[in-house]
Amino acid sequence: MNGKVNASKLALELIKDEMVIGIGSGTTVEIFLNLLGEKIRREGIKVYGVPSSYQSMLSAIRNGIKIVDLAEKEPEICIDGADQVDSKLNCIKGGGGAMTREKIVAFASKKVVIIVDESKLSEKLSIPVPVEVLPFAYGYVLRKLSGICKPKLREGSGKIGPVITDNGNLIIDCDFGIIEDPEKLDKELRSIPGIIETGIFPSKIIDAVIVGNSKSARKIEKS
Ligand code: A5P
Repeated sequence: MNGKVNASKLALELIKDEMVIGIGSGTTVEIFLNLLGEKIRREGIKVYGVPSSYQSMLSAIRNGIKIVDLAEKEPEICIDGADQVDSKLNCIKGGGGAMTREKIVAFASKKVVIIVDESKLSEKLSIPVPVEVLPFAYGYVLRKLSGICKPKLREGSGKIGPVITDNGNLIIDCDFGIIEDPEKLDKELRSIPGIIETGIFPSKIIDAVIVGNSKSARKIEKS
């Protein structure tokens, strides 16, 4: 937990008065938003935000961030968490099922900064890749995926049956083992009709990763 807090504290230094920020999702982002809320109240600053999920929208509202749409504002910086980050700063996201909107907000932002605790770092990406799938295409997509990975429909807790995303779609978690070329895999997956987005965030869209541990945090800029 401290790693997430320390990463969030360092990211907070990037946020200035009148800024428009892209807001990711997940528990690390939740911690960041709570700290940002304290900063807003303490310094009397104004911050605008484009959230990527119902979770981060409600948290942003609670913390005094004014919600705006991508049609109104271009975020100067997007702050988001990740489930795994490799040595080149490619990421896997979507543990909370929010990767489609997260990716849109990240691509729409001028800069993208990922905040993680150090348990998320790995030389190569290797955890299952979540893909968001249009329900109508489920059977077809599952057959296609079965030929290239071990696919598993994500099931919910708190409700029987599959997880339904904020966009009304299904999630299939795809185990590829070690991923040698994340950007190529992302493109390959998105070429299957019915797959709306994947949780692979290629390093080309990431500007920096802030890594926290129990004592401090450091920023890794893309080389
Ligand atoms: C949400 O779908 C995800 O992409 C999260 O950003 C990611 O799972 C990181 O979540 P935590 O900060 O909760 O670990």
